[in-house]
Amino acid sequence: MIRLGINIDHVATLRNARGGTHPDPVNAALEAAKHGADGITAHLREDRRHIRDEDMRRLKAALTIPLNFEMAATDEMVAIASALRPHACCLVPERRQEVTTEGGLDVAGQKEALAPKIRQLQAAGIRVSLFIDPDAAQIHAAAALNAPVIELHTGSYAEDPSEDALARLRDGAYLAGSLGIELHAGHGLTTTNVGPIARLPGLKELNIGHFIMGEAIFVGLGQAITDMRHAIEKGKGETVYDRRK
Ligand code: PXP
Repeated sequence: MIRLGINIDHVATLRNARGGTHPDPVNAALEAAKHGADGITAHLREDRRHIRDEDMRRLKAALTIPLNFEMAATDEMVAIASALRPHACCLVPERRQEVTTEGGLDVAGQKEALAPKIRQLQAAGIRVSLFIDPDAAQIHAAAALNAPVIELHTGSYAEDPSEDALARLRDGAYLAGSLGIELHAGHGLTTTNVGPIARLPGLKELNIGHFIMGEAIFVGLGQAITDMRHAIEKGKGETVYDRRK
């Protein structure tokens, strides 16, 4: 079964809108776990616009399912993560002005800078994942840096679910598999567009936030997670033409 990681950043955004403590992203994480989430993702941004340092500490203490610490590859974040020791760290690019993570990490262009950061996280026993676009040069660079996991950015596909966008993801998935890299994917996924993504060869994990939290307003978080699970399983079961099979 494909693992489903739930991103809880948006709960923190809502909390911060009033400056208080409600709704608590840690409670949302526990609720998601109760309803079958396989992991929790939280992004501690440089500007702390949603998740805060204290949230990360509380998540680590409260969760019995894996915590995926999403972060920029900065010295500050590497130090925080190394002390916290989450199950995994997903390294993402970060720009202060962006609304969300807009593109993949340029691993190929920053190999020398990333290598010691990845080594430091791995020395702390953390599984490192690199959030990259489905681009062969980036996937080869991830392999060269011994990253055990990549998360393919599905944002372009979500914006325009064309056969081209899907083919790029599929090619990336095959390449990751041939290089022995575990495949995750995420960004912009909904119950409507997740099906073809669930069929990516070798896909092990999806990380989904915005759509599930939006749906939770209408149907509750548990039901929103269940609905996404059904869409993933239904999508996985559908047979489609794949030129490599
Ligand atoms: N994976 C990564 C690395 C992300 O940065 C995000 C967005 O924060 C997601 C998954 C989830 O994207 P969405 O909120 O669009 O489902």
